Amino acid sequence: MKFEQTFNHFLLEHQLENKRTLNFLILMEAIITAARYVQFSYTSAALENNLGALNQNNIQGEQVMKLDQMANEIILHYLKESGQVMQVISEELEEPLSLNDAGRYMVYFDPLDGSSNVKHALPVGFMFGIAKRNLTGVEDYHLRAGKDFIASGIFTIPNGIFTFALKNSGAWQFFLDKTGVFVRPQKISLPEDSFSWELSFNPAYQTFYSEKIQSWIKENQNKYGFRYTGALATDLHRLFRNGGMFFYPIISNHPKKNYPEGKLRLMYECAVSALIIKEAGGYATNEEGIDILEITPEKAHQRSSLFIGNKSLVQSCI
Ligand code: F6P
Repeated sequence: MKFEQTFNHFLLEHQLENKRTLNFLILMEAIITAARYVQFSYTSAALENNLGALNQNNIQGEQVMKLDQMANEIILHYLKESGQVMQVISEELEEPLSLNDAGRYMVYFDPLDGSSNVKHALPVGFMFGIAKRNLTGVEDYHLRAGKDFIASGIFTIPNGIFTFALKNSGAWQFFLDKTGVFVRPQKISLPEDSFSWELSFNPAYQTFYSEKIQSWIKENQNKYGFRYTGALATDLHRLFRNGGMFFYPIISNHPKKNYPEGKLRLMYECAVSALIIKEAGGYATNEEGIDILEITPEKAHQRSSLFIGNKSLVQSCI
């Protein structure tokens, strides 16, 4: 018989090779268990009548879907149970939440990224970033920049693919097998050949982007393919394979939706994605040209503009 390498074994090898503690393994086991549970809840949601909205808005003023809340509850449960997490920041929680005083890690997450897809059970993602607490002194609970993350990941749901980056080590994808285990690490690196590159942005807002971005689009859009799934997690998934650039710029002078700082959340969307893309050989910046990984958040739910993908392409735009 042929057996595939599991995520757990892959990570164990990495931790032993680098003479690290096994606490990180316990944390990742909790995250993986939560992700499998979220995946199951998502795929059975239509039959269980769980596709609708709850009668409440989140901190960002957006409607909370039943599945958003379920996913948040599942993830919080397993993170707490692991005993490894000092504090979490979740898109679904107004304030940071303390879980275990003795925990070694801070976890920042978006339980279900791509909310407009949720009510249709279309693809979404569970995105997370992990930083270490202060292990040598008193923890001051400052919000970590992406450069301080030790790892980040995205579970794309329901396709059962897990993309995982370890700082300074690389980025890999794992597939959910029939027994419910993530297996077969495959290192990812963005293709440098522009033949397969795609652009991904919401064209409905195009005329509300800055002049600079609008003229870049005019000059460049015919050179590449175009795809937009409406969920950052799944648009990134195409990007990891095909290369190109995803961008969500600042939107101004729009009659209804203005995003003067950009729409996406810095800590659990942009920084999570930026670490993966960096480890896959790419680059992520905001519209001012600041490397996303270098931005220290001032607020837990801070927004940012995002330009992410092959470095030469991102730099030709910003
Ligand atoms: O906030 C998250 C998000 O749902 C992303 O996953 C996605 O890329 C973006 O918003 C879609 O926004 P819009 O509907 O404005 O294109």
